[in-house]
Amino acid sequence: MNTTVPTSVYAQRRARLAAKLGGTGIAIVPTAPERPRNRDSDFLYRHDSYFYYLTGFTEPNACLVLTGDGKSTLFCQPKDLEREIWDGYRLGPEAAVGALALDAAFPVTDLDQQMPKLLENRATVWFPFSIHEGLEQRVAGWLTQVRARVRYGALCPEQQSDLCALLDEMRLFKDAHEQDVMRRAAAISARAHVRTMQACARMLRDGRDVREFHLDAELMHEFRMGGSQSPAYNSIVAAGSNACVLHYRADVAPVRAGELVLIDAGCELDGYASDITRTFPADGKFTGPQRALYDIVLASQEAAVAATRPGARFTDPHEAAVKVLAQGMLDVGLLARDKVGSLEDVIEKRAYFPFYMHRTGHWLGMDVHDCGSYVEPGEVGQVSERKDPLSGEIIKNRPSRVLQPGMVLTIEPGIYVRPGEGVPPAFHNIGIRIEDDAIVTAQGCELISRGVPVRAEEIEALMRA
Ligand code: GLY
Ligand code: MN
Ligand code: MN
Repeated sequence: MNTTVPTSVYAQRRARLAAKLGGTGIAIVPTAPERPRNRDSDFLYRHDSYFYYLTGFTEPNACLVLTGDGKSTLFCQPKDLEREIWDGYRLGPEAAVGALALDAAFPVTDLDQQMPKLLENRATVWFPFSIHEGLEQRVAGWLTQVRARVRYGALCPEQQSDLCALLDEMRLFKDAHEQDVMRRAAAISARAHVRTMQACARMLRDGRDVREFHLDAELMHEFRMGGSQSPAYNSIVAAGSNACVLHYRADVAPVRAGELVLIDAGCELDGYASDITRTFPADGKFTGPQRALYDIVLASQEAAVAATRPGARFTDPHEAAVKVLAQGMLDVGLLARDKVGSLEDVIEKRAYFPFYMHRTGHWLGMDVHDCGSYVEPGEVGQVSERKDPLSGEIIKNRPSRVLQPGMVLTIEPGIYVRPGEGVPPAFHNIGIRIEDDAIVTAQGCELISRGVPVRAEEIEALMRA
């Protein structure tokens, strides 16, 4: 359990959700299942984010039931000395009521027996759609049992609604407790990036055979030393041309002096993700072409950061970054003016796409690509159509989300240069991304991941140290 967030915070979130369920609503929120790896070994357990948001409880085999009148019932693993000898401490239903500020708790083995009773005389049953394998069928089975009792006067819920619609919107706005955890997660990750850059330069100076996995080990060391439970996603440690593979993993490739290393890695702390990318010269000194592209990406990130403020649209930072990236590509000759035309043409026709093919950010929270609509809720009906200049596909656009204080997003422009016809050889196989985590504030945004520098000179100085 997360001991830094008071139990009352989870109780308040449940109260807010209950108010949205309606008086005759009921919500079912299971946690994630344990996943076997092979024989007696499981994958590292990770609770379900929605469940955790409402309980702070991290044991597996649990399910929260919340009714519109604000009553919380937890089903959790019963105390069992023998199982606890093998698998560890269980809170148990009896202690759970006080520890988690619930109204009632039962052994999870009672769920099938209790649910029909809890569902009786409710109008709407809410649960997360298409997330928990088998939940839809299980709910259907419970409802069948309620229906069997209608001739005795019971009412059976007539509506099933997706609970994600309510919870995604709540989760999109991070409260002070969440922001605090996210700041700490980002600080650990930033230290891990610093440590790894310095270790890389040192090992190369010492003449060691440095591999990507060595750098991955440095990251992991700092994550765990900082108290993080695990990486928030599979760390990307990409040496040289591997940086041009967007979802590369840390593998065995050699890390060579003269090449860049792209590291996209962030830890998860108490259920919250961080997501940082830095690109640095393996031996601590940028070459001319590397530096030219690096400074373009950095300038594009600065433009995106400046566009990240309340009242702006989610797409504004992306558009600001694209403008700088496209201009830079023209300036250094990655894009030939006689072929692609002016800056406006490059943007209009998306001619930058071969070198910048992803978006500039995403929501960040408990999940690295966090939940929350990217469309402004009050404007979903305003659909416009445009033809994608590259694929010719007709795309339906809805107005992008308006940024508000408390939203957290990443800002992560990049340039990736695969060898190709007309691509200046000096830039071949260079892949650069710079990614920071931003909390939208009343004035603009707070970058919470800048414990690791981004300016080229600062990175070089750090790696000399
Ligand atoms: N590490 C995943 C991302 O940057 O979106
Ligand atoms: Mn990332
Ligand atoms: Mn990201």
